[in-house]
This record gives sequence, structure tokens and C-alpha cells, in this order.
Amino acid sequence: MKIRFCFLSAIAICITLASHVAAQQPPPNSVPSARLAHLRHGINTSHWFAQVYDPKGYSKEHFESWTTAEDIALIKSMGFDHVRLSVNPQPMMSRGHADEIPADYLSWLDTAVQMILKQGLAVVIDVHPESEFKTKLASEGEFTEQFTDYWRALARHYSKLDPDRVFFEILNEPEVRDRFRWAGLQTKLAAAIREGAPQHTIIAAGARWSDDDDLLFLDLLRDPNVIYNFHFYEPHVFTHQGATWGVNFWHTVSGLPYPSNPESAQKVAAQVPDEINRLYVLRYGLEHWDSARIDTEIGAVAEWAKRRNIPLVCNEFGAYRKVSDPKDRAAWIRDVRTALEQHGIGWAMWDYAGGFAVAPKQNGRAVPDDVTLHALGLK
Ligand code: BGC
Repeated sequence: MKIRFCFLSAIAICITLASHVAAQQPPPNSVPSARLAHLRHGINTSHWFAQVYDPKGYSKEHFESWTTAEDIALIKSMGFDHVRLSVNPQPMMSRGHADEIPADYLSWLDTAVQMILKQGLAVVIDVHPESEFKTKLASEGEFTEQFTDYWRALARHYSKLDPDRVFFEILNEPEVRDRFRWAGLQTKLAAAIREGAPQHTIIAAGARWSDDDDLLFLDLLRDPNVIYNFHFYEPHVFTHQGATWGVNFWHTVSGLPYPSNPESAQKVAAQVPDEINRLYVLRYGLEHWDSARIDTEIGAVAEWAKRRNIPLVCNEFGAYRKVSDPKDRAAWIRDVRTALEQHGIGWAMWDYAGGFAVAPKQNGRAVPDDVTLHALGLK
């Protein structure tokens, strides 16, 4: 009798534990495939509603002239299916009432969103603040609460638009070094967006710079209507050579070839001041950066998503134009784009007409760059 009782109790405990574990599992992903199909080949419209360096600043004059209906038509004609529209929340957020987004600002943003939708393109509203904003988010609970208010209001405002073509991206490259903290923050922000927009798909990402390994660390959100996203700029010393942001010594690297090999890296390393930075360039030469290496990195993320049965996009990749060889830059773009497509991952290149441009501006007009378009598999 006693043995039987123990046996039954053990079964009861097992059942309770199993249902507890099941309760911890996120529900199966519910993003419709027709919706995901709008995010195959995208482009980032940079410096328009975020990272504005135009002397006109965040103003009506700037918004109306930086990217025009003509630009959006060009984006469509180049064969892109969506635009990732980066939006800086800072100029729209008032302290203490972040849920009241100024109507004039919203109307300028609405015009841009409508311009994109009118061309039959989808749009990702990518909240893309400056680094100081993200530093505050990483350390101040009160500020996070204000940002949550802001997102709830923004999502509510756009909740009337077609959920198959309008997507909400929680935060570009969170820069939260503590990956555990980011997991908690992202959960709160996703919940606020969901309150504002019950039907729309949310785009989530890993901590820090949303690199591939940041995503591999992430636990899934409990919300099933989510696409997971990562950025791919590996190896940065190649894609960011000449850059004056990120890591300081990048601005001293120039003409570094892709694919990598020890001899060419040695030549470039010789121009770089500081032994430690020369070592980083030499390492690049030894790390076999080529299509196989890129495919391995992207394949690891694809495998992560496959095991969890969740949709994936890579909504930033590209190489800075300033000092990189156009032929090598195109080879890198082609290898990344091909690997993404082979793994069934939708992509968006950085950027339209900025420093990484698919259509650099000449005398104020964007002109498509055939070499880059070809690398992207577009016309
Ligand atoms: C940043 C841009 C930068 C790009 C490539 C983006 O996420 O916001 O400032 O040019 O990544 O580094």
C-alpha cells in the first residue's frame, strides 16, 4: 500500500513538473508566412528620421527634402520590397508624458510611412536612438518606464495601418552590455507595443550591437507574433575600415582586402599605428574570412532559429565605402547576401544613400551603383 502510494505521488510530481516546464515554453510562433514574405529584400533609409546630420536638423524642411517620393520610387524600381525606417525617439519624447507624442512630429513621420506604403513597399518602424539614450535605458528604471509609455503610444498610433506591411522594431542595437538586463527590458517593451497594437508583428533583437552571437544568447519572448533579427558586419575591421565611430583604430585602416589572406593584411597592418591594433589587422589576415566563413557564422544563427521554429531576418549588413576597394566590398556583400538567402533569411542592406550606399548621392541626387546592386542580386 505504502509503495503504491509513493509510486502514485512520484507520478503526480512528474506530471506537475512537466506541465510547469510546458508553461515556461513560449507559445508556437504565429507570424503569417505571407507577412514575412514582405521582408525579403530591404533597404535602410538612414539619416532621415534618425542620426540627422543635415544642418536643417530634425525639422519639417529636413524631413521633406532628405528622402523624397522620388527616392522611394527609385527604391521600388531597384527591386527592394521593404524599407527599414530608422526613427530617433528622442525629439518625440517629452519628459513626464512620453505617451503624448507631438502631433506635428507624428504627421511628418506619417507622411514618410504613407509615401513608402503607397509604393507598395512594406515598412519597418525601427526605433533608433543615439548611444546616450541607450546608456540611460541600460541603467535607469524610470527612463525605461518613459520609453515604454512612448512605445505604447507609437504602436497605438500605427495600429490602424495594415499589419501585413507595417512592422515595429523594438530597439536598434540596444548597446546593453548586460545581456540578462536586455532580456528583461525587451520583454517589457514588447508587452507595451502589444498593448498598443494587438495585431502587428514585433521585431526583436539581441543585446549590445545585435550581432549574430548576441542573438544566439537570447531566450524567446512569450509573444508569438515576433520576428527575430540580427545585424551582420563581420569582420568589422573589414566592413568598418576608415570609420570614425565604433572602435577608434578603424579610421587608420585602409584598402584592407576581402577575402582575407596573411600577406595583404600584413601590408595594411604596416600603416596602422600602435602594435596592438596592428595585431588585430594581422589576425584578420589569418582568420580565413571568405564565403565559407561567412556561411558558417550565418548558418549558426539559422540553426538557432530552426530549432526554435521562429522566423529570422538580418536587417543591417553592409560595408563602409570610404576607403574599401569597391570590388572587395561587392564580394563581401554578395557572400553575405547569398548565405542569408541560402538559409532562407530575409535581409535589409545598410544603407540607401549614406556612407554604405546602394545609391550614393551625386549633386544631391541618388544614383544606383550597379556593382552593389549586382552583389545584392537586384537589377
Ligand atoms: C548605426 C549607424 C552605422 C551603421 C553601421 C547602424 O546601426 O546606427 O550609425 O553607420 O550601423 O555601423
